[in-house]
Amino acid sequence: MIGIIGAMEIEVSSIKSLLTDTVEQEISGIQFMSGKYNNKDIVVAKCGVGKVFAAMCAEAMILKYSPETIINIGVAGCLDNSLKIGDIVIADSVVQYDMDTSALGDPKGFLSGINIVKIPSDEEIVKKLQSAVDQAGIRNVMGTIASGDKFVNDSATKRFIISEFGGKACEMEGASIGHVCYVNKVPFGVLRAMSDGADETSHMDFEEFTALAAQNSTAVLKNFLNI
Ligand code: ADE
Repeated sequence: MIGIIGAMEIEVSSIKSLLTDTVEQEISGIQFMSGKYNNKDIVVAKCGVGKVFAAMCAEAMILKYSPETIINIGVAGCLDNSLKIGDIVIADSVVQYDMDTSALGDPKGFLSGINIVKIPSDEEIVKKLQSAVDQAGIRNVMGTIASGDKFVNDSATKRFIISEFGGKACEMEGASIGHVCYVNKVPFGVLRAMSDGADETSHMDFEEFTALAAQNSTAVLKNFLNI
């Protein structure tokens, strides 16, 4: 079983429409759709926006469906000047940029208990995602994807995430899904298409370009499922 999580319906709807033999189940207010695609068992969920919903969704998916892999797809704010709207970042690691116990002497982003800052994605999944994105002919980079409970539309936050964590893209779920997968020992990957520049005009870009970006991320995921 492969688990797929997106925050918004637009990020998962075209994947859901590929599935046959579908079964739906609601857990803690989150709708899960399982089914088949290309002879593979798939479960897809729209988790909702933010780290708490994303963590709830990942945990419920692991407990109910035991996926061998979870992929988080969707859109993100761009932190890398070499990328344009629609281009893709594949996470080699994820970080929660708003986790901060530095007052207690920890580095910023430190996850007490598991005692790391950046959670690495699964190497095999990263390789497969790279082949899938190359096949789709979409420009892409690999790097850290940073998550926090904020829609970033100011240059100061953008600069902070870049300088502190070397983030290539910012969003609101990937690192919390990565955190849940890490503690449950489930291999994960995060793939995001750029919808905006994570600066003062990002809310306008987001409205204009989210559909296009979501289309690119689902196109790559389809390739991934066909590998
Ligand atoms: N998702 C898409 N764009 C984003 C942004 N600028 N900040 C946080 N999440 C996003």
